[in-house]
Amino acid sequence: MLFFQLQKEHTIPLYEQLYIGIKNTIINNQLVVGARLPSKRELAEFFSISQTTVELAYAQLMAEGYIISRPRIGYFVEEIDALPFRENVAAKIDFQQTSQQIEYEIDFSSAKIDEDAFPFTVWRKYAKDVLDTPFKHLLQTGERQGELALRIEIANYLHQSRGIKCNPEQIVIGSGTEQLLPMILKLLGNDVLLAFENPGYSPIPRHQLSQLAIPIAVDADGIVVEQLQKTNANAVYITPSHQFPTGAVLSANRRTQLLKWAAKSADRFIIEDDYDSEFRYIGKPIPALRGLDQNDRVIYLSTFTKSLMPSLRVAYFVLPPTLIKRYQEHFNYYSSTVPRFEQHILAKFMKDGHFAKHLNRMRKIYRKKHDKCIEIFSNHYPEITVSGDAAGTNILIAFPHEKSEQELQKIARQNSIYILPLSNYFLTEQHYPKRTFLLGFGHLLLHEIEQKIHKLMTIWDIPKNE
Ligand SMILES: Cc1ncc(COP(=O)(O)O)c(C=O)c1O
Repeated sequence: MLFFQLQKEHTIPLYEQLYIGIKNTIINNQLVVGARLPSKRELAEFFSISQTTVELAYAQLMAEGYIISRPRIGYFVEEIDALPFRENVAAKIDFQQTSQQIEYEIDFSSAKIDEDAFPFTVWRKYAKDVLDTPFKHLLQTGERQGELALRIEIANYLHQSRGIKCNPEQIVIGSGTEQLLPMILKLLGNDVLLAFENPGYSPIPRHQLSQLAIPIAVDADGIVVEQLQKTNANAVYITPSHQFPTGAVLSANRRTQLLKWAAKSADRFIIEDDYDSEFRYIGKPIPALRGLDQNDRVIYLSTFTKSLMPSLRVAYFVLPPTLIKRYQEHFNYYSSTVPRFEQHILAKFMKDGHFAKHLNRMRKIYRKKHDKCIEIFSNHYPEITVSGDAAGTNILIAFPHEKSEQELQKIARQNSIYILPLSNYFLTEQHYPKRTFLLGFGHLLLHEIEQKIHKLMTIWDIPKNE
């Protein structure tokens, strides 16, 4: 009747093993509703365990409604119609298929960071400080826009590094660009008509975006403002300092055009996503568009995803002063989505200068990897054009090939290599002459880059110059 065994040396206590065994027997219909279970004494003898162990297991099964006890008669299987796992849905899901769980041997993802360079010791120190009784007040809900301590540090950082003057009242902290952009759109109202860079990054699912947004082309100077001017969009989401994914920098002329476009009407706004602007390898840092804005038209958005770690889930936006009141009215019910403890760890890390130090260190590390990639392509693969190489942790490689981007991506995947084609980032179907891929190097070890790039080129049959 009970076809399972108990393991006395196991880390799971005996009563729990017994409880799991009986529960599974009931769920799998090997014990039908109304069936009588052995008495505590019988079961204890059967498994050579104590009656107390059986008592504990039965008590748990009763508490969860699997069995009932009829005094002086015995224990019986209960009706469990409502149990959600009767059908054993989990068994039907092929967990291997979910792409995030696939481990690739070579990962050219542009979203990953260098794991070995993270300052764990310093981070752990602040985490330990904060997770202690002097900070017990952090157990309560915090400020809606995010902790003031962190907003002060962000305001200082933006002033020193991005040429943005703002006060902490203008800053709203949230758990990622994906979470904050929909908030901004809500703030801009129901009749917001959003224009997007094409190709571009989308924190909104693509199927929604194609109905919601107007795609605007991107060229070597960034978003084509002349195209935007011909639409009836009243908001535009752009990545001016380092266009994602092409890496273009919005030219000075286009910046002026864009700010003029926005100034023409009180309901026009520019959402500036400054992602990936921290790591610049060529020329001086590009000042944020927000720093040039005289008319309160730019909502600045940034994240700690690349500069610290993607799993932190901390991003923020800076509202123009004119939108603060509207924000407070719209979101007066809202609690910050980032845990307070995390916010204070980050605030202390920034306050003591570790963030600036970390950025400087990472810039050097990424620069070496970046230079290595460029060197490999220029030395060995003359038919490959490299672009988007001024900043960030990925470059774009383009080359003629008889196979499509999708076919090449499939070949890479079959060889356990993760790499994404440019076509992934277009909202509309595009035809361009060369196969183009984003080659991320942030996550790769410097000494392995060469061998990994050669492997990719070999499986794609791209000739190599020795
Ligand atoms: C342009 C851009 N912004 C933001 C992000 C990341 O946002 P999050 O803050 O949600 O991690 C990405 C990630 O690829 C991106 O490409």
